[in-house]
Amino acid sequence: MADGSNALIDVRNVSRHYVRNVDEVHALDDVSLEVPAACFVALMGPSGSGKSTLLNLISGIDRPSEGEVIVAGQPLSTLDEDELATWRARHVGLIFQFFNLIPVLSARENVALPLLLTDLDKAERRRRAETALRVVGLEERFDHFPRTLSGGEQQRVAIARAIVTDPDLIVADEPTGDLDARNAEAILDLLRALKNEFGKTIVMVTHDSRALRYVDEAHHLDKGVLLTGEEAERAAAALLAAAGAHPMPPARSDGSS
Ligand SMILES: Nc1ncnc2c1ncn2[C@@H]1O[C@H](COP(=O)(O)OP(=O)(O)O)[C@@H](O)[C@H]1O
Ligand SMILES: [Mg+2]
Repeated sequence: MADGSNALIDVRNVSRHYVRNVDEVHALDDVSLEVPAACFVALMGPSGSGKSTLLNLISGIDRPSEGEVIVAGQPLSTLDEDELATWRARHVGLIFQFFNLIPVLSARENVALPLLLTDLDKAERRRRAETALRVVGLEERFDHFPRTLSGGEQQRVAIARAIVTDPDLIVADEPTGDLDARNAEAILDLLRALKNEFGKTIVMVTHDSRALRYVDEAHHLDKGVLLTGEEAERAAAALLAAAGAHPMPPARSDGSS
């Protein structure tokens, strides 16, 4: 990469302000974050802390008020709206809390949708959709419609749709938020496998403390600020404690760090 950084995602001093009536909402305030390639990262924090806002900036759905987002060497600010849409279609797979499948399309047709933006012919789109459905373990469900699938299966279809274009980056906003514990763990396991086996970089927004066992890194946001050092450790410990898990060992108090 030209700038010498080897992070896949480089978020530099990014702020995002919204104007609501006469008030300015600081959804994100001077956030900097680097995510290495082939890393599975969680963005955690209470509701309203700016997690979705940061995810939307990383995936090029939204633009920062200040600062720069660089993904795979591409500064997103240099792309106009059409270029950004093309860039997203090629490089980013999106996963949402409520799956967002089209009810009148089969699993195979849902997964093939992002390929309509490519020049692949119908037979090839179908073949790639089936490959993606096999990767997520749904080889027996090609012709099923969303309503005939469980929540966990619907999220797998959505993950197949996110990987069908073979993106470098997968972003997921609360992907386990609408699933029971068993399905949530299966989805976390699948995301980790996409990183381990295919080298995908995955950024996942969640407040599910179970995710801490699956990710390589967890970053904590609070009121639009990315926590660091002891503040971040305290946030992680609080999450684990709230989940009934054993709290993290206390920070060392012998002055070393
Ligand atoms: N389009 C918008 N217009 C105005 N305020 C917004 C908008 N989107 C988000 N916000 C505000 O920005 C803050 C962060 O929101 P969000 O990133 O959705 O938080 P989280 O995903 O952590 O729950 C909240 O105070 C929210 O109300
Ligand atoms: Mg959110």
